[in-house]
Amino acid sequence: MSKNNTYILAIESSCDDTAAAVLHNDKTLANVVAGQAVHEQYGGVVPELASRAHQQNIVPVVHEALRKANVKKEDLNAIAFTSGPGLMGSLLVGTSFAKSLAMGLDIPLIDVNHMQAHILAHFIEEEGYDKPEFPFLAMTISGGHTQIVRVDSYFDMTVIGQTLDDAVGEAFDKSAKILGLPYPGGPLIDKYAQLGNPKAYKFTKPKVGDLDFSFSGLKTAVLYFYQKEVAADPDFVEKNRNDICASIQHTIINILMDKIKKAVKQTGIKQVAIGGGVSANSGIRKALKDAEQKYGWKTFVPKFEYTTDNAAMIGIVGYLKYLEENLAETGYTDTKVMAQSRLKI
Ligand code: KG4
Ligand code: ZN
Repeated sequence: MSKNNTYILAIESSCDDTAAAVLHNDKTLANVVAGQAVHEQYGGVVPELASRAHQQNIVPVVHEALRKANVKKEDLNAIAFTSGPGLMGSLLVGTSFAKSLAMGLDIPLIDVNHMQAHILAHFIEEEGYDKPEFPFLAMTISGGHTQIVRVDSYFDMTVIGQTLDDAVGEAFDKSAKILGLPYPGGPLIDKYAQLGNPKAYKFTKPKVGDLDFSFSGLKTAVLYFYQKEVAADPDFVEKNRNDICASIQHTIINILMDKIKKAVKQTGIKQVAIGGGVSANSGIRKALKDAEQKYGWKTFVPKFEYTTDNAAMIGIVGYLKYLEENLAETGYTDTKVMAQSRLKI
């Protein structure tokens, strides 16, 4: 089989989305995600419920991806799957499924690091989307991650900054929860923020060294602010929702932009690629566009379906490894590969 005619099935199950994708080389043929509404009522992901839902979703999601791609499982060249980091119970479902299917079809099994995948999602071939050139800086911002990574080649990545406590998406979601908004509140804060004054209220920014982040203080600041204002006027949030959301978002975006500016300064690299659910935020997108004008950066925001957790990003890493490790020739599979909740880049 030619290297340039590779079909890969990818499986992602690290958190609360069960996802499968089929790629033909670096192009997505199908990208299917089953979210898990069960967590909404708890205001966050419940690991035990997540693994149960993965068990129910995985077979239909894989079937749907193959059907949409119009690819038979016998035509697949390899199976790629997320081996970590993530919730152990969730990872085990995808890992075991991928392993069994690869063994059954007698094709290579490729383990993929979820954090590398968020970054390499920029290399999925999509019309209208440029690919970054090496070296570039990647900022992965989601409900589970906040990292700045220096990327020297596909598989030479160095984490140069990360959160010491909450992820940035948690800062959005926890602030939203305090304001009485449903989970996940990030997109709602974004929506209200667009109608409000970002300078209406001031929240102090954390003092964290170098390129690292901290968001737990902001959550506490929002809570104290809420308690104080609501004690004085019970309708405070209702009357000022847009301004409160705009001010919280403004603070968060400032924290992210301060660090990425510092990273550009330290490394001299002016290409910045973002990924993860929070890259959907209108404030961060605008701040990056402004930085292009102001500082001559080149910035990259992936297509929306590749920002949140998805399997196409696992598939592109699978494809790149398939080429790099010459799996078309060797057909090598490490059958002992395991799920690892704390896998590092
Ligand atoms: O990547 P993702 O779907 O899942 C992981 O956490 O890995 O990211 C979800 C996070 C949630 O915290 C959600 O509130 C946040 O991304 N998010 C947003 C926006 N859209 C999603 N936060 C701010 N503004 C948005 N527009
Ligand atoms: Zn993720």
